[in-house]
Amino acid sequence: MGPPVIETRGLTKTYGSGRPAVEGLDLSVPAGSIFGFLGPNGSGKTTTIRMLMGLIQPTAGGARLLGEPMPAAARRVLPRIGALIEGPALYGFLTGRANLLRYDAADPTADPRTRAARVTAALERVGLAAAAGKRARAYSLGMKQRLGLAAALLQPRDLLILDEPTNGLDPQGMREIRGLVRELAADGTTVFLSSHLLDEIEQVCTHAAVMSSGRLITQGTVAGLAAGARGRLAVTTPDTADAVRILKEHGLADLVVTGDRVTGELPPGTDGGEPDPADLNAALVVAGVRVRAFGTERPSLEDVFVALTGEGFDVAG
Ligand SMILES: Nc1ncnc2c1ncn2[C@@H]1O[C@H](COP(=O)(O)OP(=O)(O)OP(=O)(O)O)[C@@H](O)[C@H]1O
Ligand SMILES: [Mg+2]
Repeated sequence: MGPPVIETRGLTKTYGSGRPAVEGLDLSVPAGSIFGFLGPNGSGKTTTIRMLMGLIQPTAGGARLLGEPMPAAARRVLPRIGALIEGPALYGFLTGRANLLRYDAADPTADPRTRAARVTAALERVGLAAAAGKRARAYSLGMKQRLGLAAALLQPRDLLILDEPTNGLDPQGMREIRGLVRELAADGTTVFLSSHLLDEIEQVCTHAAVMSSGRLITQGTVAGLAAGARGRLAVTTPDTADAVRILKEHGLADLVVTGDRVTGELPPGTDGGEPDPADLNAALVVAGVRVRAFGTERPSLEDVFVALTGEGFDVAG
């Protein structure tokens, strides 16, 4: 594998005199990955992306994109990057198609002879072909988002940087974007996308970085991150109160009862691993708890986040 496609060292941004919006960020995005940049509202995702794209100046630290320093190499590097950043700038009085034609015309590396065909292809790719003749001011939030994404796809790119690409989309639209992201990655484009939606990242990303209040909490493969958190045990039983008592006695934490289901966080075992679930099942049965179903759940990125921060996935004050 080649050098990282995005690499930041100590990247920091302080707006005004307050607490840094991003602090000491060391990010490493491998080539070919679908990299999820995850964090609750206000955790510094858009600020980081603006620094990566050279739209704002870091207070400290720096970033390399496609192996070149930013913003010094912006002229060489930016044509190889497609970006969708929070609130794409659109001309409301122009149609979706005219917006893309104009956007492409502003790109000195774009071939005017293939412009119309590339615009048509991009509109089709994001599912906007039917609405291409509508003025952008009549677009819904989701349609504007799709148009912004189409702009990023007007040329083949080595890297796509997408800030909350599914913002404003309905579940069907979100599925379409996930499919599109997978297609692009299969064609060899590295995709860096931010989201505050944990399951969205889990569904599409190979790698992830987790932000909280401007700081990087962890980064790595999604599978590796999830493996770092302990799994949860789930028991289906009509005897929920007894099950809770027995499981608590065996060291399970955070016990939650939902209908006839009891779930709890498995304690660390003696050898560093988890206790054998078979022993827990036996203990339940011995205590007279009738067990209908019994199993362990794979930890989610949300479990990882909660385990690492001790917080829920909420906006920091
Ligand atoms: N132009 C600005 N001036 C002052 N403070 C800002 C500015 N932009 C962002 N901030 C602050 O910096 C912090 C990080 O904001 P940022 O927009 O980077 O977060 P985010 O992770 O993108 O959030 P969201 O999920 O809501 O898009 C927040 O506390 C925000 O209030
Ligand atoms: Mg943002």
